[in-house]
Order: sequence, then structure tokens, then C-alpha cells
Amino acid sequence: MPLTPKRASESATEMVQVVLPNDANPLGFILGGTVMHLIDIAGAIACHRHTRSLLVTAAVDGLQFLHPIKVGDLIILNALVTCVFTTSLEVQVDVFSEETLTGRRLLTSRAYLTFVAIARDGSRVQVPPLIVETDAERRVCEEAHARRRERLKQKVQGAGA
Ligand SMILES: CC(C)(COP(=O)(O)OP(=O)(O)OC[C@H]1O[C@@H](n2cnc3c(N)ncnc32)[C@H](O)[C@@H]1OP(=O)(O)O)[C@@H](O)C(=O)NCCC(=O)NCCS
Repeated sequence: MPLTPKRASESATEMVQVVLPNDANPLGFILGGTVMHLIDIAGAIACHRHTRSLLVTAAVDGLQFLHPIKVGDLIILNALVTCVFTTSLEVQVDVFSEETLTGRRLLTSRAYLTFVAIARDGSRVQVPPLIVETDAERRVCEEAHARRRERLKQKVQGAGA
């Protein structure tokens, strides 16, 4: 059956939650591991919406934490599929902090994740094409191809280590 192409906007995902004391280190900042978990979840939701298949996380590119997110702030995660390949796809997840009283927002992390679509028997599944129409979307996809080449190169180097 032919796969139905989809726009990135159809799977775009926003997750918002308040940072609670239980999520925080002794300084009152959200734990990095908690942010990584939320990034994985937000990215996976966008990719599930695009593929409607089972998925595994294959790679998370280098991740930086640019600003702390304090207890009481909102953490906002925006996930957008950037490019699809054959059985894998890349998603960009932007993380923001938002002060509840002022609305001040800061970009705190940007992550690129690759998910692979798999069937229950473990075989790989082809993913639906991504509709790429504008120059900006084409540029995003070209950049994703460049990151993919680098990632697969690093995987081969890592496997040889
Ligand atoms: C990710 C995984 C399925 C890749 O398996 P593999 O046999 O090495 O890869 P395959 O040759 O089957 O390639 C499948 C696709 O994954 C891509 N891929 C494989 N390793 C990758 C990596 N490290 N980074 C990015 N993409 C990768 C390939 O490019 C290919 O994409 P394409 O079909 O779009 O060209 C396998 O390594 C795995 O199951 N890892 C564990 C995943 C996991 O447990 N994640 C955490 C919990 S969900």
C-alpha cells in the first residue's frame, strides 16, 4: 500500500509542564536527565504522528543546556520532523523555559533525534514521505541530510573502536 505523504505541521508537537521540586537538583534547577527524557518523549510523539508505526530511538545528537530552568517555571518542548529518509526520520526538539509570572521565554536546548520505524518482529518499516514545499523546508531537510551523513560516519568510527 503506498504511504501517504504528510506535512511536518501535521505531526508538530508541543509539550508543556511545570517544573516541580521533585524534578530538581539542590539548586532548584530541573535535572538534565529529566530534560533528556522529555526531549525523547516529545520527539517520539512527533515521529509516531508522522509514521503511525512503532519506533526506536537510534541517535540523539550532542545536547547542550544553555540556561537553567527553575522550579516553578514552565518547560516547553516543540518537536518538528525535519526530514525523512527510508526507514528512519529526524526530528528537531527545541526546549524553552517560560517564567510563569512574566512570560519571559528562553531557548534552553536544541536537540536532533533519529528514530527508526520497526515492525513487531523487529524488521524495519518504510516511513511516509515528508511534504517539502518551501525553500525554508528544503533547507531544513538538506541540513538534516548533512547531519545524517556525519552521524552515520561517527557510528562506523564508533563501531570500529
Ligand atoms: C537503531 C537500530 C534499529 C539500527 O539498527 P541497524 O541494524 O544498525 O541499522 P539498519 O541498517 O537496520 O538501518 C535502519 C535505519 O536506521 C538508520 N540508523 C542506524 N543507526 C543509526 C544511527 N546510529 N544514527 C542514525 N540513524 C541510524 C539507518 O541509516 C537506516 O535508516 P534509513 O533506512 O532511513 O536509511 C538498532 O541499532 C537498535 O535497535 N538500537 C537500539 C535502539 C534502542 O533500544 N533505543 C532506545 C529505546 S527505544
